Amino acid sequence: MRIAMLGFGSVGRGIAEAVSEKDLGLSITAVADSRSGIIDADGIDIRDVLERKRTTGLCGTPGITAEDVIESGVYDVLVEVTPTNADSAEPALGYITCALTAGRHVVTSNKGPVALRYDALMQLAVSRNVQLRYEATVCGAIPLIQALEIGLAGNTITALNGVFNGTCNYILTRMTDEGLSYSQALLEARELGYAEADPTYDVKGIDAAIKLVILANSIWGLNVSLDDVDITGIDGLTTDALALAEDLDCTIRLIGEIIPEKRILKVSPRVLSKDHSLVVRDTLNAVTVETDMAGEITLIGRGAGSRETASAIIADILFIRDCYVERT
Ligand code: HSE
Repeated sequence: MRIAMLGFGSVGRGIAEAVSEKDLGLSITAVADSRSGIIDADGIDIRDVLERKRTTGLCGTPGITAEDVIESGVYDVLVEVTPTNADSAEPALGYITCALTAGRHVVTSNKGPVALRYDALMQLAVSRNVQLRYEATVCGAIPLIQALEIGLAGNTITALNGVFNGTCNYILTRMTDEGLSYSQALLEARELGYAEADPTYDVKGIDAAIKLVILANSIWGLNVSLDDVDITGIDGLTTDALALAEDLDCTIRLIGEIIPEKRILKVSPRVLSKDHSLVVRDTLNAVTVETDMAGEITLIGRGAGSRETASAIIADILFIRDCYVERT
């Protein structure tokens, strides 16, 4: 399976490292970052690319662009891992549209295009008989979309509640455990590389809400937008509020909730008892799915990070290869 990759930041490098370390039967034939690119139909020496990026900040030759990769690259799957733009979804939306139109499968970690244009992109993918997969957009390494689409097929999901934003969870954990101020904890979260480029997306609950929109549209076809989510972030929370919860042997977590049947989508800080299954530490994510047949299922894992997000991207690529390409 030949891969062209757009984006060579933390996630892109995580994918490249995994492909070069593991015998997955994948070959990277083109890569572009924001300032350079490299194309070789016979397969790129990805260790060279990783070293060049580390020493020069460029993955390839200046002047070779993402458009060049899409149009001139020889690939079966476009892996689109450029940063999220939640307002217009561009330029990723254009890249994905071009690749699907050209009959290429697409795997992405980019929340913007999936949250804003899910139906249109899926229709395009179906019309070209290719796959668009996006497991990495929600809860990083947790295979939540696979679980909802495949593992729990046939169940009616009555509710889904979870911690969808690692940055907020980290801030709340550090404020409670170490008594850090909100701004100190946010600074730490940014240093860890978990926060969005604009961390107001995290702390105002927008990142969690985007993930709910992706699930609502892709799993339940609710056709909602960010405007349909009732959002309260953690930016107004004080250490006093956390201390008050602590006095009750409770703590506070930013919880996203979907009740599909009622079209309820909500993100808000909630007081939970300390032994609640959604009270996870640091940057972990956790999601509880309530179903009619399987009962209650909770998935816990790393919601972001280079290698963790690469795990979800590679699982999507291998799913396309093993469950789709080889059967058609
Ligand atoms: N900023 C996000 C988070 C990254 O903190 O969860 C993963 O989507």
